[in-house]
Amino acid sequence: MDTIAGMTEFNAPIELNDGVSMPRIGYGTYKVGDDKARQTVETALELGYRLVDTAEMYGNEVGVGSAVANSGLPRADVFLTSKLWNDHHGYDSARRALEASLEHLGTDYIDLYMIHWPSPKQDLYVETFQALLKAKEEGLIRSAGVSNFLPEHLERVKDETGAWPSVNQVELHPYFNQPRLRAWHAERGIATESWGPLGQRTGSLLHERAVVDAATAHEKTAAQVVIRWHLQRECVVIPKSSHTERIAENLQVFDFALTEEELDAIDALETGERQGIDPGGHER
Ligand SMILES: NC(=O)c1ccc[n+]([C@@H]2O[C@H](COP(=O)([O-])OP(=O)(O)OC[C@H]3O[C@@H](n4cnc5c(N)ncnc54)[C@H](OP(=O)(O)O)[C@@H]3O)[C@@H](O)[C@H]2O)c1
Repeated sequence: MDTIAGMTEFNAPIELNDGVSMPRIGYGTYKVGDDKARQTVETALELGYRLVDTAEMYGNEVGVGSAVANSGLPRADVFLTSKLWNDHHGYDSARRALEASLEHLGTDYIDLYMIHWPSPKQDLYVETFQALLKAKEEGLIRSAGVSNFLPEHLERVKDETGAWPSVNQVELHPYFNQPRLRAWHAERGIATESWGPLGQRTGSLLHERAVVDAATAHEKTAAQVVIRWHLQRECVVIPKSSHTERIAENLQVFDFALTEEELDAIDALETGERQGIDPGGHER
């Protein structure tokens, strides 16, 4: 990779399949309570993040919304994403969930609104996605996406609504790096967004030799190397931290580029095992 191009290229937004521009890196807010979100989201925006990821289920949309309002940034400069929870599948219910999220966030529109889980047992995700498409037509959301969808779910959405979702936010990190799903998305113009990007549920990713060696070589931290790996693997990435220093650290990923060898060594950490729930199961 051309080093200079590699450094700058990933700082630019990606264009989604509906023409909407989305930042490649954002601040994740899972397990950040409402009060804490008021503070950390404002910090993240001050530090330069322009994408914030929340969800109805995180219970922090009020805090996220007030941080955006207090940031002093024009609303159009912030890319807000939220998701509807599993008990809001179905056309009317999805619409009510969206209206509640808009009210909690204190905004007229959400940039990217997603179905949090396909919940195949309910068998309502196609109808739910229809509600998102209608909301997009009305300007209540700019882009209609999904999360934790498998190709079989995405294909049904496309067959029955005529539209591919713009984004699929899925569990993705070096221990479960989903090369087939990423390629499948790319062929269909669906952007891949990584959740749990630091693979922290086992606590060992940031100590892996492939990560530590690259961090040493580039004088960066292990977390920065992993975040950079996501960017160079063409994934939108939304690391979460409750600590100001780490929120800042996680955004300092545009002044170096991993080599192909380093990327491959990090790919080789694949375990084939999810740390989270299997979306094809019936738990959700
Ligand atoms: N769609 C879905 O189903 C789904 C599921 C899970 C998550 N998400 C989204 O994805 C976002 C990210 O996923 P996540 O929050 O599960 O996990 P993550 O961002 O991969 O990891 C967060 C963990 O890493 C630690 N951390 C952050 N920066 C660090 C650094 N520089 N050095 C060392 N440790 C660091 C954090 O600790 P501290 O906070 O103590 O710093 C926290 O324990 C979520 O916040 C949420 O927005 C979506």
